[in-house]
Amino acid sequence: MATLDLDSITKTFGAAKVLHGIDLAIRDKEFVVFVGPSGCGKSTLLRIIAGLEEASSGRIVIGGRDVSREAPVDRGIAMVFQSYALYPHLSVFENIAFPLRVARLGEPEVKAKVEQAAAILKLTDKLPLRPGQLSGGQRQRVAIGRSIVRNPQVFLFDEPLSNLDAALRGDMRVELSQLHRELGATMVYVTHDQVEAMTMADRIVVLNAGKIEQFGTPMELYHHPQTRFVATFIGQPNMNLLPATVKGAGPGGLSVELDGGHAMTIPVETGSARPGDRVEVGIRPENVELGSGFDMPVRVLERLGGVSITYGKVAGQRFCATLPGDAPIHEGDRVGLAVDPRHAHVFDAGGRVLRRLSAPTLVA
Ligand SMILES: Nc1ncnc2c1ncn2[C@@H]1O[C@H](COP(=O)(O)OP(=O)(O)OP(=O)(O)O)[C@@H](O)[C@H]1O
Ligand SMILES: [Mg+2]
Repeated sequence: MATLDLDSITKTFGAAKVLHGIDLAIRDKEFVVFVGPSGCGKSTLLRIIAGLEEASSGRIVIGGRDVSREAPVDRGIAMVFQSYALYPHLSVFENIAFPLRVARLGEPEVKAKVEQAAAILKLTDKLPLRPGQLSGGQRQRVAIGRSIVRNPQVFLFDEPLSNLDAALRGDMRVELSQLHRELGATMVYVTHDQVEAMTMADRIVVLNAGKIEQFGTPMELYHHPQTRFVATFIGQPNMNLLPATVKGAGPGGLSVELDGGHAMTIPVETGSARPGDRVEVGIRPENVELGSGFDMPVRVLERLGGVSITYGKVAGQRFCATLPGDAPIHEGDRVGLAVDPRHAHVFDAGGRVLRRLSAPTLVA
C-alpha cells in the first residue's frame, strides 16, 4: 500500500511564504498531477515529499507511516527530474544499475533488475551504449529506469518531458501512462502543460500561489471548476469571461445582463449574489454555436480543418468561439452566436463559482 498523505504542509523561505497549508490524500496506485503557473510551489511541494527540502510545518505520511523526519533514501520514493543527470562515461546498463551498485547488491540480482527495467522501458538493445548515443527520449527513459530498479512505493516526476520536442513528448506521455499501469505504483507528476495533466492524471491538483485551488478528476475540473482560476487554467482555448450584472433570481436560475445588453438566465444557485452585483459569466469556446444570441465581429479566423477557431469581441471583452471547420464565415463578418445557458458558469466578485441548480451528468 502506498497511499501518500500531506497534512497541513507549509513552507517559508526567509520572509516568503510559498506553501500555505497543503492537505492532500493520494490513493494507492493513483496518478496525480500537480499543475499551476510558474512559481506557484509545485517543485517545492514535490521536493518536500521527497525529503530534499524540509517543510516549515506539517506531516508527510507514506503508506500510513509518518516519514516527515526520515532521510530521502528511507522514504521509499524515487524522483525523476527535468534534467536527467546521466553519467556520460558509463553504459546505459551501468547508469540504470547505479543505485543498486551503491546498495552493494550481488551481480546476478543487479543484472536481473536492470534487464527487467530495460524490458519495461524498451531499452534492452541500448544497454551496452553510452548516453551520448541515445535520443533525448531514450535518455529520459534511462533516468526513469534508474528510479524503477529501486522498486519505490511512490514515483515523483518534476517536468520530466519538458526538454523534449513536441512529438517525443506525445510519445513519452503515452509510455509513462503505460508504465504507470504496468508498475501499479503511486505516481505524482508535476507539469505546467495542461494537456499532459488532462491526459495522464487520475486526479489533478491545481495549485495557485501556494494553495490548492481544486483537487479532482480531469473531467470534474473541466465541467465543474470551483473557481475562476481553475476555469480559465483548464481547457483550450481558454474559457471566455464576460462581465455582467445580476438582475434577479427565479426557478430557472440567476438572471444576468451581460455588459453590452444581452440577457441570460443561467441555472445556478443565487448564493450570495444580489441584484446589482457584478459577476462574470464563463463560456467555453467549444460551447458556442452559430445562432442568434449575441453578435461578434470576426477579427481573426483560424481554420484548423476540423474546427474554426474564431476570435472577436463580445461585451467589450476578447471572445473566442470554436465553430465547425466548414462554418460559412469570413474575417470581417458580423456573426450571430448562441450559447446554451446550461453550459455557462457564473463567478462572483471573489472568483468563486455559483453552484449549479442541478448538476448535469458527469462524464467519468
Ligand atoms: N531555495 C529557495 N530559496 C528561496 N526561495 C525559493 C527557493 N526555492 C523556491 N523558492 C521560491 O518558492 C516559490 C515556488 O517555487 P517552485 O520552484 O516550487 O515553483 P514551481 O511551481 O515549481 O515553478 P516552475 O513551474 O517555474 O518550475 C518561488 O517563488 C520561488 O522563487
Ligand atoms: Mg518547478
